[in-house]
Amino acid sequence: MSRIKVIAIVGARPQFIKHFPFEKALSSEIELITIHTGQHYDDYMSKIFFDQMNMSRPKYMLQIGSRGHGAQTGAMMEEIEKIVLDEKPDWMVVYGDTNSTLAGALVAAKLHIPIAHIEAGLRSFNKEMPEEINRVLTDHISDLLLVPSNVAVQNLEKEGIRDHVHVVGDIMKDLVVYSTENDHISSRKQNGEYYYATLHRPYNTDEKERLEYVLDSLSKVDKTVVFSIHPRTINAMKKFDLSRDSYSNIVFIDPQGYFDNLSYLYYSSGLITDSGGMQKEAYWLKKKCVTIRTETEWVETIENSANTLVFEDLSGLNVLMSSSSEWDDKLYGDGSCGELISSLLLQNTMKKN
Ligand code: UD1
Ligand code: UDP
Repeated sequence: MSRIKVIAIVGARPQFIKHFPFEKALSSEIELITIHTGQHYDDYMSKIFFDQMNMSRPKYMLQIGSRGHGAQTGAMMEEIEKIVLDEKPDWMVVYGDTNSTLAGALVAAKLHIPIAHIEAGLRSFNKEMPEEINRVLTDHISDLLLVPSNVAVQNLEKEGIRDHVHVVGDIMKDLVVYSTENDHISSRKQNGEYYYATLHRPYNTDEKERLEYVLDSLSKVDKTVVFSIHPRTINAMKKFDLSRDSYSNIVFIDPQGYFDNLSYLYYSSGLITDSGGMQKEAYWLKKKCVTIRTETEWVETIENSANTLVFEDLSGLNVLMSSSSEWDDKLYGDGSCGELISSLLLQNTMKKN
């Protein structure tokens, strides 16, 4: 059998990170072509990951950049469509729930290219999040639904999606396992006692009053907060004229490379975040997490109080860090998600042919 051709779409920070273990695990029977939409473009949101993890450069760099949802998704689709018509892939692989995910999936569906959705079946049940729209729509047009857990299987069942659903674990776990085994965390030791923080959800950053409240609350906890600040949040602070100097308990740092970020997390006394990926990474590294959201897609992490949701009242963030918790070493798989996906792509191509 000749090699099968897979196009993978990446565009935002977590997708570069998910792409690395996927690329690494792929069978030699699969030819991988990567499209980078350019949704994230600053070096510290994009290039740093390709450099640090020594990933292949994407064959196509679309440079779409920041725009409104419609303009951004539409511009991506226009460019992706041309490439798909030319490359005629056997599969379109999309990750997660960003606008880049939806753009890739919509193009593939209309051109009758089978779609494999990595991180399918997640739900926040909050339709105000653009990610919820993106993931629901993507799941409903996907041909291979690669889910991290049984909760995701049930979410899909409730929406009538029962076929071609496979529990493969979480691709981000592969990378945490790899980073630990290869000393990428321990070789970057951080000093001192601190909580680590990252925040970028529009409902925490896009209104002045809310962002001020979040920053004030971070500055009142009982340890220094090292805050890796996402460009959305950097821009919001500038726009609202919120000076970093007003928050003496917070050490603001630029967005970090993947391994540096994991090491900041690993050597911290706990994580404060609204990131999807970092809730899981905290769990796997056995760090308590406080998530500044009203809900999470990663519900298993809150079941045993490893992760606590807070939103309206952010006083006492530090108290949540001291409560006890239990960890399931097998949560979201064992770090072999990439290999499972590679096999499933091959098996399901053969069935088709
Ligand atoms: C996007 C995803 C979100 C994901 C996050 C990961 C959507 C709808 N949202 O949110 O699901 O959790 O990425 O980080 O797809 N910006 C820069 N430089 C960059 C990238 C962004 O300055 O390299 C700034 C721009 O002002 C831009 C803003 O950040 O308008 C937001 O970027 P965007 O990609 O639209 O959304 P994110 O908040 O990053
Ligand atoms: N991350 C990183 N550097 C940082 C902050 C986060 O490499 O300074 C990584 C983090 O380890 C995780 C991913 O980015 O793997 C999460 O991405 P993000 O929080 O931007 O998006 P989300 O997961 O919420 O979609």
